[in-house]
Amino acid sequence: MDKFLIKGPAKLKGSVKISGSKNAALPIMVACIGYPGIYTLNNVPDLRDTRTITKLMQAIGCKIHSNKNTFIINSIDCNNPVAPYDLVKTMRASFYVLGPLLSRFKKAKVSLPGGCAWGPRPVDFHIKAFEKMGINIALDKGYVFADGELDSTVINFKTSSVGATGNVLMGCTNLDKEVIINNAAREPEIVDLCNFLTKIGMSIDGIGTSILRIKGIPNSDNKTRKITYDIIPDRIEAGTFLIAALMTKSEITLNNLIVDHIQSIIDKAKEIGAVLSMHSKNSLTIKYDKNIKAIDIKTDIYPGFPTDMQPQWISLMSVCKGESKVKDTVYFDRFSHIPELIRMGANIKLDKNIATIKGVETLSGTEVMAGDLRAGAALVLAALCAKHDTIISRVYHIDRGYEDIESKLKSLNVDIVRLK
Ligand code: EPU
Repeated sequence: MDKFLIKGPAKLKGSVKISGSKNAALPIMVACIGYPGIYTLNNVPDLRDTRTITKLMQAIGCKIHSNKNTFIINSIDCNNPVAPYDLVKTMRASFYVLGPLLSRFKKAKVSLPGGCAWGPRPVDFHIKAFEKMGINIALDKGYVFADGELDSTVINFKTSSVGATGNVLMGCTNLDKEVIINNAAREPEIVDLCNFLTKIGMSIDGIGTSILRIKGIPNSDNKTRKITYDIIPDRIEAGTFLIAALMTKSEITLNNLIVDHIQSIIDKAKEIGAVLSMHSKNSLTIKYDKNIKAIDIKTDIYPGFPTDMQPQWISLMSVCKGESKVKDTVYFDRFSHIPELIRMGANIKLDKNIATIKGVETLSGTEVMAGDLRAGAALVLAALCAKHDTIISRVYHIDRGYEDIESKLKSLNVDIVRLK
């Protein structure tokens, strides 16, 4: 298993190009299963997770050719509506195949994802929504066996869910009747999925709002699709580099992002006193050289502060001046980074889903372990501003969601080595 050796403290300089969004690419790749076609997807990040979904889609019968960030997906001859445990257990997003498989084949056998690094993370909303749409669902030996004819209905999610909204949207691909989702997710990744589905011929009203009115591709239309689509940039990667600049009191420029998508993070950075200059809607310079002010945050669904930035924010607050609180309202037990940060000298107390952080002057490098993707990102950030060397193990978690992270950090003047 690879490790990172990072020599701190680092002073960052230069610019970095933000990669395509993992959480937009995964459902859009999967959506290609729903309707036969040849789809060229650009700006797909080359990550462990996009490779895992590729394997799963190949098992279903897609032919996939990738050249760095362009994936050509041929879904014409898909014929095996099964998602095996081996692939689903390594990545929860694999559960997304349920919707497009049901839409195209009227049946599917999909492994339940099981636990994740920070708790159970259920898929009950997905299952209840498909039952409401008329699908028979049986759970047996860890698998969901689903079959039936999808039908028009109104789905009311009690909590907004990115995955369940995406799954239902893809379930509607070939349904020539209206489905309404109330309390739909509004995240940019869901908007991107809606834009893709619209491009392949679906009709979706209310994109970017919490009420979606969805109509699939009309039955009369049976033309194979030939579509090219560009995936949006990764807002969480952008937010992570933004915090890297703050933690190292540096000046860096982020290119190829959508600045609007990280507004909640920008607002907090400004409250701290960072100077941000927007060159265009896709380019931003962050400059910071003062003491970090302690600021409380609470994660929330979009456009609130993202839970996927909570670990990185706790890292930042570890070296602030004063005391701050971080409350995660989306996930209650996503805190595996805290004990590792404490090992680096941070002063953090966790009470249920609220972390209280007393800033320390400096962190010290040591050996730490990434417990999941964003926890790993938090440790990389801590290592950048720590005294001495930090060795981070289990970087395979980081490789799931950050494309070429060590080359990007090296280009920003960081001394980082991947130990094989
Ligand atoms: N929930 C349920 N039942 C369900 C589905 C969700 O109780 O059937 C709950 C969850 O436990 C959570 C809340 O609803 O408390 C919201 O979860 P959501 O379904 O929105 O999360 P997700 O779709 O499983 C996606 C991202 C996550 C990100 C969350 C929240 C992908 C592939 N994953 O997960 O990304 O944290 O939305 O924004 O899009 C990451 O990239 O590191 C990551 C974990």
